[in-house]
Amino acid sequence: MKVIERIADMKALSRLAAGRGKKVVLVPTMGALHEGHLMLLRKGRELGDVLVVSIFVNPAQFGPGEDYSRYPRDIERDLALARKEGVDVVFSPRAEEMYPGGYQTFVDVEELSRRLCGLSRTGHFRGVATVVVKLFNIVLPRVAVFGLKDYQQQLVIKRLVRDLNMDAEIVTVETVREGDGLAMSSRNRYLGEAERKAAACIPRSMVAAGELFAAGERDVEKLIGRMRGIIDEEPLAAVDYLKICDPVTLDELGEADEGSLVVLAVKIGGTRLIDNCILGRNCVKIRN
Ligand code: PAJ
Repeated sequence: MKVIERIADMKALSRLAAGRGKKVVLVPTMGALHEGHLMLLRKGRELGDVLVVSIFVNPAQFGPGEDYSRYPRDIERDLALARKEGVDVVFSPRAEEMYPGGYQTFVDVEELSRRLCGLSRTGHFRGVATVVVKLFNIVLPRVAVFGLKDYQQQLVIKRLVRDLNMDAEIVTVETVREGDGLAMSSRNRYLGEAERKAAACIPRSMVAAGELFAAGERDVEKLIGRMRGIIDEEPLAAVDYLKICDPVTLDELGEADEGSLVVLAVKIGGTRLIDNCILGRNCVKIRN
């Protein structure tokens, strides 16, 4: 497994691989790898010849007062996990090389970026879109793998790939969850013991919505009301947003349907967690 820090070195390797007809697959991450990331790597491994994982905590996608400086960084552990999954190249550039002095070019997916998480995290998706375009230009992937855990993010990326006539195919992977249904996330590391227990109200609320939907309820207000009831019972939890939307446009719905997107952001203590599920399909399962 090669570990590459310099953009020029990564570009040279990508060009060589492409020239030899190798199919390069990219899995972009911010590190602190967990089982969710590993599922993306396994999917990526199946899809091509050269598996590249990028590990880069992207300053452009964090707002002022967000957790950029304390975001978990654990490169040695990440390298060991990547090696075990058969990764060929870890690309971990430095922030100063990705955004040198004078940097001023950003990619803005205008409409999708201003909904849901875009409202409470201004500029977040502009930072994500920008770094993804930069990574694609450096790594030249034929395929890139993203998680459905960050549902809005993968929509933004699919949109920019189409709008900018980029060649990479975007493949998505279902959300990997803990036994109590909590979606795996690098930010779960911030949770104290009581908070970690409290966070289970998020998947529980989605299970309840799924059950109500399965019993025939289509009224979005009622479905959301049931979810809110479950989350509001938890004193450590505070809803940022909780919506049922069209899964492609993210327009809010009045009536839910099979395939509608349930999407929420909840603060557990000081930690903001996001999750989602599709009604009637991949509704969340709780194992214990
Ligand atoms: P990060 O949060 O590290 O996530 C990297 C990828 O792993 C994303 O595609 C995300 O959706 C996926 N992922 C995270 N948790 C998951 C889970 N429980 N199940 C399945 N997939 C999961 O998302 C980012 O980094 C950044 O915004 C990035 C795209 C790298 C741009 O900086």
